[in-house]
Amino acid sequence: MAKDRLVSSLAKKKIAFLGAGKMGGIILQALLKNGLLSPTSTCATVAHPERAKALAAKLRIKVGTDNAEAAKGADVILIAVKPQVVEEVVREISSVVGPKQIIISVAASVPTAMIEKNLTTNAPVVRAMPNTPCLLGSGMTAICRGKHAGPHDLALASHMFEVVGRTVVLDEKHMDAVTALSASGPAYIYIILESLAEAGVKVGLPRDIATLLAAQTTLGAARVVLETGDHPALLKDAVTTPAGCTIDAIMELEEGKLRVTLIKAVVKAAQRAKELAFG
Ligand SMILES: NC(=O)c1ccc[n+]([C@@H]2O[C@H](COP(=O)([O-])OP(=O)(O)OC[C@H]3O[C@@H](n4cnc5c(N)ncnc54)[C@H](OP(=O)(O)O)[C@@H]3O)[C@@H](O)[C@H]2O)c1
Repeated sequence: MAKDRLVSSLAKKKIAFLGAGKMGGIILQALLKNGLLSPTSTCATVAHPERAKALAAKLRIKVGTDNAEAAKGADVILIAVKPQVVEEVVREISSVVGPKQIIISVAASVPTAMIEKNLTTNAPVVRAMPNTPCLLGSGMTAICRGKHAGPHDLALASHMFEVVGRTVVLDEKHMDAVTALSASGPAYIYIILESLAEAGVKVGLPRDIATLLAAQTTLGAARVVLETGDHPALLKDAVTTPAGCTIDAIMELEEGKLRVTLIKAVVKAAQRAKELAFG
């Protein structure tokens, strides 16, 4: 289906966000702000009634604590509760979910098979793994499909997440790796940014300037990689003048094992995502 038809079809759909916390809230607010969802056809749930009341007033949509009531009649059900709560939520809604409703889960380490197993119909299930920069439309979301989801379901989910950044469609076997790299990744980058800002302070810059320099340099370098498609090693070589300053810094980074440390960090996080798998 063409993208504009998908946009207009999304605006006509009834959507239920089960678990409008940090991640659910980011996606919900972005879709509402961009006019991709109609406030009258969108509802959400949270655990605490007082949170529901506050969110309803803020977003001007229906927010409650009854998942089955929210899911009933929704065309798209987005599950964004913590992974350990997903099974309970799916059981609560299973009696009201029909085969034409699409379920999209953003829960880490929750396989589509676990959701499918707890449903009483063959509703299509799509799994998505976004990250927190979705907040500013600079997110990265990987999407995969469960056994009953087709290309149209993937296109609809991709379109929803394109509003908050880039998307990529992958096989489900890659989702733990995605969790470790791009979903947890912002935390690694913030540590690197914090360290670069400290370094700036150490060499005499005011902290706010040091933070600006570090953040804009990270953003700029990332954009160059994305927009040129050039290998990062080639781009690094272009900064590294023979006998200049950068090569001295690179020697320190190599001695400090930055490269292998980052690789090991992602491997550990992927192992943990696998260990945590909710079957
Ligand atoms: N944060 C990330 O960077 C990130 C990245 C990728 C994927 N994810 C996934 O996103 C999901 C949510 O994570 P989060 O960081 O957004 O957590 P969060 O801020 O704690 O949000 C969870 C939300 O679920 C609500 N909730 C809890 N139990 C519920 C229930 N039984 N029925 C309905 N709502 C319920 C909570 O309600 P209250 O507000 O009332 O407590 C809260 O609003 C997780 O599965 C996580 O793996 C998160």
